[in-house]
Amino acid sequence: MSALVKVGDVWKSFDQGRVEVLRGVGLNVAEGEIIALCGTSGCGKSTLLNCISGLEEVDSGDVSVSGYDVVNESTRVDLLRHHIGYIFQFHHLMQDLTLAENCYVPVIAVGGSKRDARERMEELAASTGISHRLNQRVRELSGGERQRGALVRSLMNDPKLLLCDEPTGALDEENREKVFDLLLDLVRKRGRTLILATHDPELASRCDRTLRMRDGRIERELVGK
Ligand SMILES: Nc1ncnc2c1ncn2[C@@H]1O[C@H](COP(=O)(O)OP(=O)(O)OP(=O)(O)O)[C@@H](O)[C@H]1O
Ligand SMILES: [Mg+2]
Repeated sequence: MSALVKVGDVWKSFDQGRVEVLRGVGLNVAEGEIIALCGTSGCGKSTLLNCISGLEEVDSGDVSVSGYDVVNESTRVDLLRHHIGYIFQFHHLMQDLTLAENCYVPVIAVGGSKRDARERMEELAASTGISHRLNQRVRELSGGERQRGALVRSLMNDPKLLLCDEPTGALDEENREKVFDLLLDLVRKRGRTLILATHDPELASRCDRTLRMRDGRIERELVGK
């Protein structure tokens, strides 16, 4: 299988180089793979996900997703809009919009049709058990409902790559399991690629591979189940 994500010798620091976070990270992720990204708090997992998506610029090194050069600014926006779904730790849904309105945002950003989007949203909402909450404002939803909503939104443009940053971190054990099951199910059924930053060894063990970050690099590979 060809690599969908290629990261080669990526360096990234903050505060004019005073905080060195990524120090020569390299990894390849094949299309359809489900990867857990582990490591202690502050080791650079979110920074790496941000560099892969192009939300954060690298200091040096190469990043490509689906053949697009992420380091190149002119292709980055296109890539992010069309091919990458992102689920953040605290969902980042707009509180005063309904869940449905939130789901239309990424579709409108790529000039998609609202009619097709509605069909897709209803299908995804049904499979995540959130249909009855679509017309509710996000501020009125529970944490688990918001995370399921964020999952629906992240898949609206059917991205090739889904990046998830502790997507279930704020949930209790029961909801964590439920949301993660849905996530894996949706990704596997569509043959999509997932990189999941997580502290939870239980969730990591259900991925195809675990990559552990340490000292700004990928330390070693642990084989999942
Ligand atoms: N914009 C920024 N400016 C300065 N320092 C930053 C910035 N973003 C991240 N850092 C620093 O980079 C390091 C790595 O942060 P990052 O958020 O990538 O860690 P993480 O592995 O995701 O941690 P956690 O498991 O707690 O989410 C931390 O020391 C953090 O303080
Ligand atoms: Mg983080």
